[in-house]
Amino acid sequence: MEKLKAAATKMLLQAYAPYSHFPVGAALLTSEGKIYSGCNIENASYGLTNCAERTAMFTAIAAGERHFAALLIINSRPKIITPCGACRQVLSEFCPPQMPIYLTTNQTEQLVSTTVADMLPGAFAAKDLHDD
Ligand code: THU
Repeated sequence: MEKLKAAATKMLLQAYAPYSHFPVGAALLTSEGKIYSGCNIENASYGLTNCAERTAMFTAIAAGERHFAALLIINSRPKIITPCGACRQVLSEFCPPQMPIYLTTNQTEQLVSTTVADMLPGAFAAKDLHDD
């Protein structure tokens, strides 16, 4: 947990958030114990913004990883945040439903624990593309 938090915290410094001034960092643990981290990357065309957890997820997928064990998301304000809807859908594509997601900020020791399934019950998934 400390390693995950440290990796995500480092990402707060890499965040590209000139519009929201809301840096976010994420660290994703693979089943084999490797950590992939990411930050939010904003764009002048706001809708193209990539959230920290999707950056971490896509970096891991592009590196060939497919099995994940935990995710930690940190922001730099006092209030803990939860992943946006788009990120919840992306996480549900690649992570087991019961995988823990830890939420914290660098202003507190408080750590909220939730799961991929709790974040997006009834997620649309590959199985829904077939009739059977
Ligand atoms: N953001 C994330 O990176 N992750 C979240 O879980 C919520 C929101 C980013 C997107 C945008 O750059 C900024 O936070 C404000 O919405």
